[in-house]
Amino acid sequence: MGEEKTLEAIRYKRGSLQLLDQRKLPHESVYIDIPDCDAAWSAIKDMVVRGAPAIAVAAALALAVELVHLETSYTGDAKDAAAFIENRLNYLVSSRPTAVNLSDAAFKLKRLTSKASVNNAATAKAVFALLVEAAEEMLKEDVLSNKAIGENGAKAILQAVGGKEKLNILTHCNTGSLATAGYGTALGVIRSLFAQGKIETAYCTETRPYNQGSRLTAYELVHDKIPSVLIADSAVASLIASGRVDAVVVGADRITANGDTANKIGTFNIALVARQLGIPFFVAAPLTTVDTQISSGDEIVIEERSKAELTHAFGGAGPEVAAPGIGVWNPAFDVTPGKYITAVITDRGVIWKDEKTH
Ligand code: MRU
Repeated sequence: MGEEKTLEAIRYKRGSLQLLDQRKLPHESVYIDIPDCDAAWSAIKDMVVRGAPAIAVAAALALAVELVHLETSYTGDAKDAAAFIENRLNYLVSSRPTAVNLSDAAFKLKRLTSKASVNNAATAKAVFALLVEAAEEMLKEDVLSNKAIGENGAKAILQAVGGKEKLNILTHCNTGSLATAGYGTALGVIRSLFAQGKIETAYCTETRPYNQGSRLTAYELVHDKIPSVLIADSAVASLIASGRVDAVVVGADRITANGDTANKIGTFNIALVARQLGIPFFVAAPLTTVDTQISSGDEIVIEERSKAELTHAFGGAGPEVAAPGIGVWNPAFDVTPGKYITAVITDRGVIWKDEKTH
């Protein structure tokens, strides 16, 4: 692999945004310039950037960069500017449907700029500037939020497992620095436990069909020198049954009001095994991932991705591995019912399913 690899998914300075092309990891670290929302939309859709928080931050910053370049030639007034922003954000939200973070960020940015635009003294320049500052704030806030999730999660898991010097933790998909503005959610919890000397082994699943686990989480674990082991998705039940896992921690794309949680396909399988074999199953996410507009997981739109991700190697980019002509169903996410989740670890605290047991 040669040169030192980076864990920075998003590189930003005012007027310039670059995204690490995660499709090329772990073999190459290549950054792609994102000058506007059109480039961001494709980058999100095509998995250059992925992971719920990273998608939201990248989209907000892409619009900020577009506005910085548009500002000098823009002739509309403040209300036109707010309408332009709304339009661009709606477009960005259409790139991937399941994670709430992108639509939540878009909602907040639209509300902020539309409110400002009705002030009589407002100018398009001022409305654009407001968006740029708010998008930059989202980048900073995400890292802080992840650090808080890490601390809260480490404490909660140690409390739930009770008394063990070192823990064996299983995670799924990629929820680390590559999926966020930095540090990570579920992987941030593992980082935090490791920093406290509490990790014996971090297990990561391959996370078929796109291999976010074997390509990205494994890469982050090796990068940070966290003792770690990769397993096939289908080895989860055997691993847990062998007594080698103390707790599971995964991320979330959307948590509904009743605690149902959409996350990477295969999460539900792991939650069922964890429940059946009696180990705690944690979800780690910023509180903003809780979508109070939706009462249960039945209402979450689950993204279905291309057949090629299953029929061909390397997420569809490699040679065909399936028998030609086979039908394919490729949902990118599943919904774990809240009843299987021991606790949701957020940046604002931990929500235990059963208060009495903790
Ligand atoms: O399809 P992806 O790679 O965007 O899916 C990512 C996940 O499912 C993550 O677990 C989730 O977005 C949380 S990332 C902190």
